[in-house]
Amino acid sequence: MTIEEEIQSLKEEKNAVILAHYYVKPEIQKIADYVGDSYYLSKAAADTDAQTIVFCGVSFMGESAKALNPEKTVLMPDAEADCPMAHMADEETICRMREKYEDLAVVCYINSTAELKRLSDVCVTSANAVKIVKELPNKNIFFIPDRNLAHFIAEQAPEKQFVYNEGYCPTHERMEAEEIKRAKSEHPKALVLVHPECTEEVQKMADYVGSTSGILKYATESEGAEFIICTEEGVAYELLRKNPDKKFYFTDTVPVCPDMKRVTLEKVLHVLKTGDNEVHMDKRLGEETRRPLEMMLKLAGVSDRK
Ligand code: 13P
Ligand code: SF4
Repeated sequence: MTIEEEIQSLKEEKNAVILAHYYVKPEIQKIADYVGDSYYLSKAAADTDAQTIVFCGVSFMGESAKALNPEKTVLMPDAEADCPMAHMADEETICRMREKYEDLAVVCYINSTAELKRLSDVCVTSANAVKIVKELPNKNIFFIPDRNLAHFIAEQAPEKQFVYNEGYCPTHERMEAEEIKRAKSEHPKALVLVHPECTEEVQKMADYVGSTSGILKYATESEGAEFIICTEEGVAYELLRKNPDKKFYFTDTVPVCPDMKRVTLEKVLHVLKTGDNEVHMDKRLGEETRRPLEMMLKLAGVSDRK
């Protein structure tokens, strides 16, 4: 049996489902039942009937899946795969901002720890952030942890007053305007598609700014044949699968998230066999984390879950 066949048969035996983010390695995306952006995966986690969820991604994704499914088993192929940005905000600042601004909504990017989510009013992903922020009755928005996504939303929602937090994604922040200029001069016909975790300077150079699924949709529906992609290189697998005749370029320092790349087929097989790396969350933390996540699903227009 190949490793893929072994995974398939264990998955059936254990009534498990495999969720994978677009940034994990292609061989993982190939064997996953659901591949998508953070929003799609949180909906898939909320809706699955499987007893076990194997989450091929980083720890905030596993925590969110567990908070949404306290009675299910959530397994992380690599327990150390963690998003550095998820830790870039703190309780003290959140409390200070709540005291300082009347009518403040604390809006938390899903790329954050459960401890930060529970202190927030609502979660968002890059795919639904603008819609959700616009729907909030509050004028003042403290957006944690990502300052770049915060600036992107603020521009689309000028009626809101933003308070910024200094978090960022090291993988997206590494892409510099100079590199994009260079790529553009090498491929003058290419359209520039940018994730909102990139710096404001890079966002300004974009023909389109959006989540990973937004970038995929744009590239697939576009008449254009060449694209400079400013997000993690794992999306290339799905971009090329959907658009084998189009060309996709990355910056010279190819953006690679080392944490997403920790997931391997061997580790997926191992957790399915052993049940190792199960996500545990105490009842109270789970309930408090679920609240802003369910608020996100409700405001984003997902009908009530079963
Ligand atoms: P999306 O897939 O939701 O755009 O998120 C990007 C990301 O950085 C996930 O870690
Ligand atoms: Fe975190 Fe950035 Fe990696 Fe996404 S790409 S998991 S935001 S470090």
